[in-house]
Amino acid sequence: MFGENEKNVSKLKDFWVEFFADRRDGGHRSSAEEFISMEAKEKLFHLDGGKTLLDFGCGAGELLVYYAPEYEHLVGVDFSASMLDEASKKVRDRKYGNISLIQADDKTVWEKLDCSFDRITAAGVVQYLTSQEIDSFIFNASNYLNKGGKIVLFDILDPRLYPLWKIGLFSQNAGFLNILRKVGFEFKVMLSASLNNHPKDILGFSHNPNAIKKIAEKYNFEATFVKSMYYEYKYHAIMSRTSEVQEF
Ligand SMILES: C[S@@+](CC[C@H](N)C(=O)[O-])C[C@H]1O[C@@H](n2cnc3c(N)ncnc32)[C@H](O)[C@@H]1O
Repeated sequence: MFGENEKNVSKLKDFWVEFFADRRDGGHRSSAEEFISMEAKEKLFHLDGGKTLLDFGCGAGELLVYYAPEYEHLVGVDFSASMLDEASKKVRDRKYGNISLIQADDKTVWEKLDCSFDRITAAGVVQYLTSQEIDSFIFNASNYLNKGGKIVLFDILDPRLYPLWKIGLFSQNAGFLNILRKVGFEFKVMLSASLNNHPKDILGFSHNPNAIKKIAEKYNFEATFVKSMYYEYKYHAIMSRTSEVQEF
C-alpha cells in the first residue's frame, strides 16, 4: 500500500512525465549554438576529465553532443521519448558512434546500465526531483561510479536567489513598478496552481546547497558548490568521494 507521501511523489512524477512528453529542447536561455557551446564548455571544465560519462536527463542531447568528443563512451538517459528522439537525430547527424541513449527515469535507469562511469552528471534536472529522490539518485549513482569518479549536478535552482530572479530583480529594467507587477503575477500563478492542484512552478523545486551537502555526506561524498556562469539563480554541485579526497 502507498503512503500519502509516496502517492504525492508519484502524482508529481506523472506531472513531469506529461510535461516533458512532447518537448523537444532543454529550455536553455538561448537555443543558439554559440550559447549552448559556451554552456557546454563551462560544464566540461567542471566535469574535469574522465573517460566515461552518464548524462542523466540528457534531454535533446544539446550538451551531450558537446561532451562527446571528450569521452570514450557516453550514455544519455531521459524519460521523454520526444527528447530522446531529438537527441538521437543530433547523434546521427554528427556521426558520433560513442553515445548510447536509454529511455528511463531516476528509478529505472540503474537496472538498464551495463557499466559504471567516471562521471555521472545531470544538467537542469535536479529541480524535477524531490529531496527524497535526490537522496536515492546519489545513493544509486555512487554504486555506478568508478574509483576517482565524480557526480556533477549542474544548474540547481538556488532558493536564496531564485525568488529574486523571478520578480525581476536581476533584470536590466528592474524598476519598482515592474517588480511590483511581477510579484502580483507570481502570486496569481501560485494561487491558481494550488487551486488546480499543480506544481507551483513549471521549473520545479529549488534545493538549498546545505541540504544537497547533507545528502552527499551521507554517502561519503565531499560536495563543493560553484555558481552557474550563465544562470544567475542556479548553482552546480560537484561531488567526490571523501576517502579519495583525503588520499591526495
Ligand atoms: C530542462 S531539461 C534539460 C535537458 C538537458 N540536460 C540539457 O541541459 O539540455 C530536463 C530534462 O530532464 C528530463 N527529466 C526530468 N526528470 C526526469 C526523471 N525523473 N527521469 C528522467 N528524465 C527526467 C526531462 O525529460 C528533460 O529532458
